[in-house]
Amino acid sequence: MKVAGTREVLTLLAVLVTQHSLVTGNSTVVVTHENVQGLIDSNELLLLSFYTEWCRFSKILEPIFEEAAAKIHQKFPEHGRVILGKVNCDKEEVLADQFNIIKYPTIKIVRNGLISNQEYRGQRSLEAFMQFVERELSDPIKEFHSIDELKGAEVGHGIVIGYFISKDHVEYDTYRRVASLMRNDCRFLVGFGDLTKDLRPPGKNALIFRGDPSIPNPKQSYSEYQGNKTSFKDLTAWIDTKCVPVVREVTFANAEELSEEGLPFVLLFYNKQDLGPIQEFKKAIHSQLENETRVNFLTADGELFKHPLYHLGKSPGDLPIIAIDSFIHMYLFPRYEDIHVPGVLKKFIDDLFNGSLHFNFHSTEESDEKSESTIEPTQLPPVVHESKFKELMPSKHRYTLINRSRDEL
Ligand SMILES: *[C@@H]1O[C@H](CO)[C@@H](O)[C@H](O)[C@H]1NC(C)=O
Ligand SMILES: *[C@@H]1O[C@H](CO)[C@@H](O)[C@H](O)[C@H]1NC(C)=O
Ligand SMILES: *[C@@H]1O[C@H](CO)[C@@H](O)[C@H](O)[C@H]1NC(C)=O
Ligand SMILES: *[C@@H]1O[C@H](CO)[C@@H](O)[C@H](O)[C@H]1NC(C)=O
Ligand SMILES: *[C@@H]1O[C@H](CO)[C@@H](O)[C@H](O)[C@H]1NC(C)=O
Repeated sequence: MKVAGTREVLTLLAVLVTQHSLVTGNSTVVVTHENVQGLIDSNELLLLSFYTEWCRFSKILEPIFEEAAAKIHQKFPEHGRVILGKVNCDKEEVLADQFNIIKYPTIKIVRNGLISNQEYRGQRSLEAFMQFVERELSDPIKEFHSIDELKGAEVGHGIVIGYFISKDHVEYDTYRRVASLMRNDCRFLVGFGDLTKDLRPPGKNALIFRGDPSIPNPKQSYSEYQGNKTSFKDLTAWIDTKCVPVVREVTFANAEELSEEGLPFVLLFYNKQDLGPIQEFKKAIHSQLENETRVNFLTADGELFKHPLYHLGKSPGDLPIIAIDSFIHMYLFPRYEDIHVPGVLKKFIDDLFNGSLHFNFHSTEESDEKSESTIEPTQLPPVVHESKFKELMPSKHRYTLINRSRDEL
């Protein structure tokens, strides 16, 4: 019998190796500093798991992530759609630095060639990964078929509406890519052809932003995009300023992400039956604190977040309530009504940063101990409690937290 040539043996080996990796189910791609850019450039969606061998949460995630990669590959086999990759941070320190990894495992998201600030923070289960990828790959833009559909606006979101000549217009392609990137920050709608003919200049497309109906003067925030509609960068910048509001709603789903931005929370706890305070809060911030960048302004459903409320000695009956959570302490804003008095909320925030809120905390403790109550009731310092929102930060029960110190160049 003739011995097979070297090339044939190699081919056979390659087939065996490929089959073997299918059998052992490692469907993730090993990502290194050498292949990362190619993967980023050639895939619609990339989930990158940054792990280390010694992190036990990484170990727990590994088989689940592998299985998810296999299932996702089965469901979306098309080249260039989605890849689940893994980065060994012990070997790829520079890559871990570039992606600002400060905990393991961290699952970063890359969409259409852009590394998102957002990371995967959902459940680490096969079902959750599948759902996430399906959602990410679904069309971010909803097509409307009658003008009536534009009337019902959802509270809590701005809307971008596209009036396009046709689906195969190059500008629509840009709109889709931007919408895919910003899908969590706005709702995106589109209408084509005759339906929208009277709503756009003849022979041209139009993009309109309509503000969240819960912000003060939503009419004022109504605006039309005047920039270059084939420029991905310009359109993204416009949608970013329109859709990412100064005041955001905190939920259990986004609390970890918001807390990781590292800024103290200035929170309005409101009652869902009475949304008026949300408008008042936003109005106060827009008129008095629009340049304040040291904190995150948030609104919180007092029912959903009743734990921090009880912790502050309050109940849903006391709403609305304003408090600062610095992730060390919580400080109660003394009187909600004072947000209408220019400067009072600003002073409350300034007091956090010059330490006087914290100082008052200790002096209240002392005066409590001595039972001296010589302070005028109106001058009582804000009541202070331990932070509740620090419990929503990335948890050591879920991640290995590290201090990555950058080398000075
Ligand atoms: C599969 O796992 C093996 C062993 O861990 C590794 O050498 C190989 O590169 C992996 N294959 C892929 C496609 O990631
Ligand atoms: C619009 O943006 C695209 C993509 O960046 C660019 O190629 C084109 O020249 C721009 N058009 C104008 C009129 O600036
Ligand atoms: C915020 O900054 C802008 C530009 O510096 C200024 O025009 C505006 O008055 C400032 N707003 C407030 C409320 O201080
Ligand atoms: C902090 O600033 C406020 C005014 O914003 C002032 O009343 C207070 O005395 C300051 N406290 C300290 C400790 O500097
Ligand atoms: C990170 O560094 C800070 C300050 O140096 C320290 O207080 C903290 O405990 C460190 N955290 C971890 C997880 O090592």
